[in-house]
Amino acid sequence: MVEEKFTEEEKNKLPKHVGIIMDGNGRWARSRKRPRLFGHRNGVENVRSVVNSAKRIGIPYITLFAFSSENQNRPEEEKFGLMKLLEEFLKRELNAMIKDGIRLRAIGNLSELPKFAQRMVEQTIEKTKANTDWNLTLALNYGSRQEVLEAVHSYSQQTSPNSQKPNWEDFEKHLQTKGLPDPDLIIRTSGEFRLSNFLLLQAAYAEIFVSPLHWPDFDRSAFLEALKNYVSRERRFGKTSEQILPIQAS
Ligand code: IPE
Ligand code: IPE
Ligand code: MG
Repeated sequence: MVEEKFTEEEKNKLPKHVGIIMDGNGRWARSRKRPRLFGHRNGVENVRSVVNSAKRIGIPYITLFAFSSENQNRPEEEKFGLMKLLEEFLKRELNAMIKDGIRLRAIGNLSELPKFAQRMVEQTIEKTKANTDWNLTLALNYGSRQEVLEAVHSYSQQTSPNSQKPNWEDFEKHLQTKGLPDPDLIIRTSGEFRLSNFLLLQAAYAEIFVSPLHWPDFDRSAFLEALKNYVSRERRFGKTSEQILPIQAS
């Protein structure tokens, strides 16, 4: 059992929100001498198992970086293939999401996605919006910089030119992640040490874990390893270690 892998103390420290940069599908396919879309297809297959693991462990929020704003610069054929996979995935998972109490959300500029994909995302969001147990957010055509520019625009339209400087709590309501807690842990697969425009502000104090595995190979045990690593860390949020653990330190 997964739960047995964590002590009671560790269970209390588990992240509430995990963001995953699902990278490496192309390299995974290339190493098998297969086309990139074969890698994407296998990547999508992996989503269900990681989301199920998160549920069993008790992590209420998962956000998956599925398609970045900059991925719009990829070949048309790859983009179309990715959108068909997204549509297929949502069609196939809808009943399970409803049954398991998973609420789907999306961040990113959906209006620039092909209509069929946009429609499927919107319908799934609508059909799962009453769910409250688990929260799956897909970042689709998402870029943090674009999100911030839109938030600045939306915030400034609400306020007068000589109003006070915004505080963070007021400003973050204009981000696409409104209603989601900040990610505690960001996992990136495929060995790359960068955020690639993913949740740049929200991840201000996120712990980062980089796995060498390509996303289609990132299985349940790799996920548990990332979580084990996370619970062993001390999150100081700018404070000193002594402030965090006054008893042990004295
Ligand atoms: C991640 O895999 C999926 C998307 C970005 C859509 P990649 O397609 O980036 O795979 P690599 O990085 O080329 O191996
Ligand atoms: C980041 O991966 C975006 C997603 C995983 C969806 P990329 O493969 O696009 O990132 P870079 O270009 O290597 O930074
Ligand atoms: Mg990549």
